Amino acid sequence: MQRIAVLTSGGDAPGMNAAIRAVVRSAIYNQLEVFGVMQGFEGLIQGQIKPMYLGSVADIIHRGGTILQTSRSARFMTEEGRRQALEQLEKRGITGLIVLGGNGSLRGAYEFSKLGIKVVGIPATIDNDIVYTRSIGFDTAVNTALTAINHIRDTATSHGRVFIIEVMGHNCGEIALAAGVAGGAESILIPEIEVDLEQIITKINQGTARGKLHSIIIVAEGVYPVMELKEKIEEATGQDTRVTILGHIQRGGTPTAVDRILGSCMGKAAVDALISGKGNVMIASREGGMHSIPLQEVIRGKKTPELGMFDLARVLSI
Ligand code: F6P
Repeated sequence: MQRIAVLTSGGDAPGMNAAIRAVVRSAIYNQLEVFGVMQGFEGLIQGQIKPMYLGSVADIIHRGGTILQTSRSARFMTEEGRRQALEQLEKRGITGLIVLGGNGSLRGAYEFSKLGIKVVGIPATIDNDIVYTRSIGFDTAVNTALTAINHIRDTATSHGRVFIIEVMGHNCGEIALAAGVAGGAESILIPEIEVDLEQIITKINQGTARGKLHSIIIVAEGVYPVMELKEKIEEATGQDTRVTILGHIQRGGTPTAVDRILGSCMGKAAVDALISGKGNVMIASREGGMHSIPLQEVIRGKKTPELGMFDLARVLSI
């Protein structure tokens, strides 16, 4: 293998830049030529491919977002789009591709590898919803959500209010659970557990009776319409209730040490995998370091968060 390329796809995640830096530097260290593809799979189809040098990734380890930019490509979901993308790589003599992204991007990587190109995936999504591994960006997103919860807690206490805070997660309760437990939330609503409205209301009422000054309810996006939840809580408890949707704030910002280290380790592991002839795999961070898992297994799996965390939050928020 002489020439490899790297791209970022889907929603950006803090720590992607650390991984890009690790890919470029490890490749050059191993005497490979390395190329950066702009704007994900869409840029690959269009041939937006440029050579990367040591200096191309200087001063980026601390930056959120992705210097390669990203996209969600509908064209790459078609066989024709993937064939065009392959041509772009073939005419430059590129035989290995590293794809950073979430489940949708890894599915794209898997389909692409069926055309014969060696593809290695790196799990990068704030949602942390990829099986067998922790994903780049999750730790930063949770810490960002936590900072917001801390701020909201101050004003909630001052006014004696209930606050509903919606976090991201895309059908997965990982961010809500982690931010909720770390933020000392009274209730956490996640897609994996049926919403118990009565229990939420009972908790608020019991807290008020004990002289509690506020209640924080964390809702994973899509689990319950937050404005409807606010109305129901106000009706049932008589408490002044406010809603904050954290949204894309969780996707940006300087990556934490955890995400920088994870990105660095995974970027190097992806290059090592290509050098040793592997393809059609994803790098996974599990006990004992970095592992390669077949992409086929990854896209078939469904991640379930550690539900013991839900129980922990329930017990600690009495
Ligand atoms: O996958 C990351 C994520 O931020 C999800 O949590 C969220 O549902 C989605 O992306 C939002 O996507 P977009 O940035 O396209 O609105």
